[in-house]
Amino acid sequence: MLENDVSAPAMNTTIYLKEYQVPDFLISQVDLEFVLSPDNTRVKSRLKVTRNGAHDRALTLCGEKLTLISVAINDESVAADAYEQTDMSLKLPAVPNEFELVIETEIAPQQNTELSGLYRSSGNYCTQCEAEGFRRITYFLDRPDVLAEYRVRIVAPKAACPVLLSNGNPVAQGDGPDGLHWAQWHDPHPKPSYLFALVAGDLQFIEDQFTTMSGRDVALKIYTQSAYINKCAHAMASLKRSMAWDERVYGREYDLDIYNIVAVDDFNMGAMENKGLNVFNTKYVLADTDTATDADYEAVESVIAHEYFHNWSGNRVTCRDWFQLSLKEGFTVFRDQEYSADLGSRAVKRIQDVQVLRAFQFKEDSGPMAHPIRPDSYQEINNFYTATVYQKGAEVIRMLHRLLGADAFRRGTDLYFADFDGQAVTTEDFVHALERASGVDLTQFRRWYSQAGTPIIKVEQHFGDGVLTLSLQQSCPDTPGQTDKLPFHMPIEVALFSPDGKKLVAQTLSFNQAEQQFRFDNLACKPVVSVLRYFSAPVKLEYKQSNADRLHLIKYEDDGFVRWESMQQLCLAMIQPALTTGELDPRAYQRVRDAFEALMTDPNPSDKAVLAEMLTLPPAAYIAELASRVDPAAISAVRDRCIERLAKDLEKYFHALYADNNTALDTDAQSLAARRMLKNRALFYLVETGQTAYYALASHQYHAASNMTDRLAAFTALVQSHYPDRDALISDFYETWQHEPLVLDKWFAIQAMRPSSEALREVEDLLHHSDFTLTNPNRVRSVLGAFSGNLAGFHRLDGKGYALLVDYVIKLDQINPQIAARLVSSLNSWRRFTEPYASRMRTELARLNMVSQLSSDVREVVSKALS
Ligand code: ARG
Ligand code: ZN
Repeated sequence: MLENDVSAPAMNTTIYLKEYQVPDFLISQVDLEFVLSPDNTRVKSRLKVTRNGAHDRALTLCGEKLTLISVAINDESVAADAYEQTDMSLKLPAVPNEFELVIETEIAPQQNTELSGLYRSSGNYCTQCEAEGFRRITYFLDRPDVLAEYRVRIVAPKAACPVLLSNGNPVAQGDGPDGLHWAQWHDPHPKPSYLFALVAGDLQFIEDQFTTMSGRDVALKIYTQSAYINKCAHAMASLKRSMAWDERVYGREYDLDIYNIVAVDDFNMGAMENKGLNVFNTKYVLADTDTATDADYEAVESVIAHEYFHNWSGNRVTCRDWFQLSLKEGFTVFRDQEYSADLGSRAVKRIQDVQVLRAFQFKEDSGPMAHPIRPDSYQEINNFYTATVYQKGAEVIRMLHRLLGADAFRRGTDLYFADFDGQAVTTEDFVHALERASGVDLTQFRRWYSQAGTPIIKVEQHFGDGVLTLSLQQSCPDTPGQTDKLPFHMPIEVALFSPDGKKLVAQTLSFNQAEQQFRFDNLACKPVVSVLRYFSAPVKLEYKQSNADRLHLIKYEDDGFVRWESMQQLCLAMIQPALTTGELDPRAYQRVRDAFEALMTDPNPSDKAVLAEMLTLPPAAYIAELASRVDPAAISAVRDRCIERLAKDLEKYFHALYADNNTALDTDAQSLAARRMLKNRALFYLVETGQTAYYALASHQYHAASNMTDRLAAFTALVQSHYPDRDALISDFYETWQHEPLVLDKWFAIQAMRPSSEALREVEDLLHHSDFTLTNPNRVRSVLGAFSGNLAGFHRLDGKGYALLVDYVIKLDQINPQIAARLVSSLNSWRRFTEPYASRMRTELARLNMVSQLSSDVREVVSKALS
């Protein structure tokens, strides 16, 4: 118990997987009529309900923030004393076994700041129902295992809402009295309520079409407000590529006549796969070269693909309950990762995905919210849209793909889609389908679904008499509620290289014991061993590899991931000892310096984007993740010193690299983007030298740039350096881009990420800027999200960064609890910090915990962080 924990705040209820029960009632048909109005939208719901099994229990529907107008069963009105209403439910005792239920409710989309249910964004109506938003629209069995066919009628003023959209196909439309008009939609595919969507407003669209593999024409439309309409072409091209890829790689065809996407400014997450009507955060739709970076283009491509792929992995086959979320999310992330890998550089995609996993998921796995990819319990499901469910979930599917091989994996997914089409199923159903199709026994593999934590793999090698023995040992740290974990089954990709760089052997080891040895015979001499190629399992490797071996792999490996990882290891060998000694070991530094030089003088770099990644030191967050105790000041100081020395010592090479790549020689977009990435990496180091000439070079690039990638790279390098004209540059950027919200988000974020103790004061100013608002999630993430990830700026000896964050979490919790809860989690790992940081973080968490009116979202995170 904490000293300053005086009274126990209100507790949330916990929901357990083991208590899952089939629904008491089913709903087969849903007829909805919406009469839209900002402050009192009428929703009339007509449901066909049947009792599920022989029982006499009441029908209890979920409902939140609804004004109930009327209830009728089989056209007979139900009196108010014949039902029980709470602020979360509507209970109808003694209903018939089969009946029609009509419920009228009223809601206020204009007042909906949580952005869950029906809300308004820039004056337009839109919905977000996953996970539990539909209950904020009408009373319903709001759970994914209740699937129904939906018919929707929308009535709205024609002038304000010329566009009226819902799921499925349009059926009819017409004009009504008083300037109203209406549209009717029908979705023939039974779906859970979380996939329901409605959009209405003054929107423009762009249009295209796709012919499916069986020859059906599908109309494709992307809707957004008129100011953005000329930025949708890349998203449309991405959609068509995704549709073709899913046919080619998974044999999956689209199943409606139209596919609509709507992009809105205010959205809690990235996007939502509602059947036939995806709703997107503008961040993942809009792109043109003036306002979007190459990274933005890639992000749009992958999220468009992700939501499209959900049409099969999520919609046609959905989740039985929210514990199964990774069934659709892990699988769909794996699918979108492979899509992007096929489209661009597979090695760079893998490196970037591993970086995300390490930065976010490893951290989650070592903190108080650690959970398996299929959690056993939750308080607030919105807190479980996590890096574990998504990114680690994708790693688990990737391991299955590797263990089975591409062909057996495809037979397995074919069987899964065929057997479970139209159903709400479990991760067990998925694994069992793969097992049946491949004949591979996945009994032990299933532990990945039930055990949390990042496994640690120790590798030792012994060579003698032409035989190499690799000894692998695995263990997994305890996580909340889980101790003494059993060994996992995982594929470990290994290759052996000869002293002159030839690949002698490459093989997948099936590692499934606590300790296991693998033998390689008939070797002429001691090979260099490459372990965990392609990052074949989501683990931490403890491998005392010699620096000579690392350099050998940098030179000869054909897997870009291992080349990059070997370089990261060389860098860590330089950084980690210095965190405690405060001194850079000259030999460790020299090795990194020489390796950088060798990379930059290689006349034929295999992949410029991989090279750019290899010239990047491990991120501060990853160094923190690997430390036994996190000293943020030491990490920033050491990392900054390494950067500065490398920049100064290798100046002429960075300059040459910059010059060589500052030209548009390549014809394809991908090579041009790789060139820009490499050039801008060089520019970063040049600016870090602090030389006036390089400030001028970056400033010139900023002003002369023909695209946002180059402009933003120059801006970031200068703003995060000691550039004397920093303030003028910040003003210039603001003046130029203030009318582009997504660009302005970058402007906010780059300042909030300034790696200096000055960041706090700047963030305080940004929070009072006229363009800052707590009602737009992207803007909140740009300032508070970016700041909380700023190791040097956020973690201060005086704890003022934490206090500022908590002040804003308390305010934001009244507006948007989902976003507030995400911000709190940056304090989750407080126990891993040195003093005084740990105590100061804990003090702020305790202060937050004392607030009596917290949402269940924030309450769950803060109480678990303190427990
Ligand atoms: N299913 C969506 C996706 O992965 C995520 C939506 C979750 N939204 C939420 N508020 N929890 O693409
Ligand atoms: Zn998803």
